[in-house]
Amino acid sequence: LNVAFVFGGRSAEHDVSIMSAQQIYETLDRTRYNPMLVGVSRDGKWWLHEDAKQFPVHLESSGAQIAFLPGGHGKALIHRRGGSYTLCQVDAVFPMLHGPFCEDGVLQGVLETAQVPFVGSQVLASAICMDKEIFKRILRDAGLPTPRSLILLRGAELKFQVAQKAVHSSSLFVKPASLGSSIGVSKVTHETEFQSAIDLAFSYDSKVLVEEYVQAREFECAVLQDAERPSKLLSSWPSEIIPADHHAFYTYQAKYIDPKGAIFRMKADIDEAVADRVRELSCEAFRVTGCEALARVDFFMRPDGELLINEVNTIPSFGPANMFAKMMEESGIAYKVLLQRLLEHAIK
Ligand code: DAL
Ligand code: MG
Repeated sequence: LNVAFVFGGRSAEHDVSIMSAQQIYETLDRTRYNPMLVGVSRDGKWWLHEDAKQFPVHLESSGAQIAFLPGGHGKALIHRRGGSYTLCQVDAVFPMLHGPFCEDGVLQGVLETAQVPFVGSQVLASAICMDKEIFKRILRDAGLPTPRSLILLRGAELKFQVAQKAVHSSSLFVKPASLGSSIGVSKVTHETEFQSAIDLAFSYDSKVLVEEYVQAREFECAVLQDAERPSKLLSSWPSEIIPADHHAFYTYQAKYIDPKGAIFRMKADIDEAVADRVRELSCEAFRVTGCEALARVDFFMRPDGELLINEVNTIPSFGPANMFAKMMEESGIAYKVLLQRLLEHAIK
């Protein structure tokens, strides 16, 4: 089966996506699947690497562009430098892209239109989980706990003290509404830092989330859906992330650049009752947002033990920390088997 790995992309998580794709590409069972590497450049062009032995870093060095045909049941047109066109068949797509245009339903809509099976959530759940405002509305509507927040649109003014009062917190997180990997996110403890944090977040998005800063422990939980019985969800024992003291929080640097940026406890040291609650909330969040196949659900736990759902990642990172795959491994599903299950789920 020809499986296209689509990676890179137009979002600010471009580099994160390349790390994810590389990991998966190197793990895929080649006796079952023939991987096709499709790198999406920052300007949105799709490049096919036809004879890539190594994982390509230079997306545009391949010389062949690729486009799916609407209604083509996976037929894709390859356009080589020099002008020749050929058709190829793609049996499934593994979208290894994070962030807007990639993980937010836009790509999923293209693949749906091309009638090619793909791994992961469909358009609606992808869009819900990428927009932190909509995501929180859905959660609150379902009675699920999430940190207090308010939304700021471009041009609107917000005073630090007003925001503090609104979310009942002296320190705040300021985030672009739709992005991931902590890009454009600031922790604000002083009024003097507030406006520059807002400006930074607006440089990535036209909508900004101002959220209470939760002095907390941080957990993640992997959820895998059964392809035959969609109501059956497997959730992992939660892992714990402890950002290093020299990072203000679990920043982009701590996640991907600094090898000592955080300590990862693959099995969080928590009571079974707490783990059960995390797992239960993860499955509820997965269901109310309408996710499919896989998701990683991220949590804060307040000092008094209250659990808050921070976000649901429909295409979690498979890069350096590779939390999703490792949590699944802890749950007895080897990495290769996990990839196979995800692809079988897509193709079923
Ligand atoms: N948004 C990144 C890829 C993650 O949450 O894993
Ligand atoms: Mg994320």
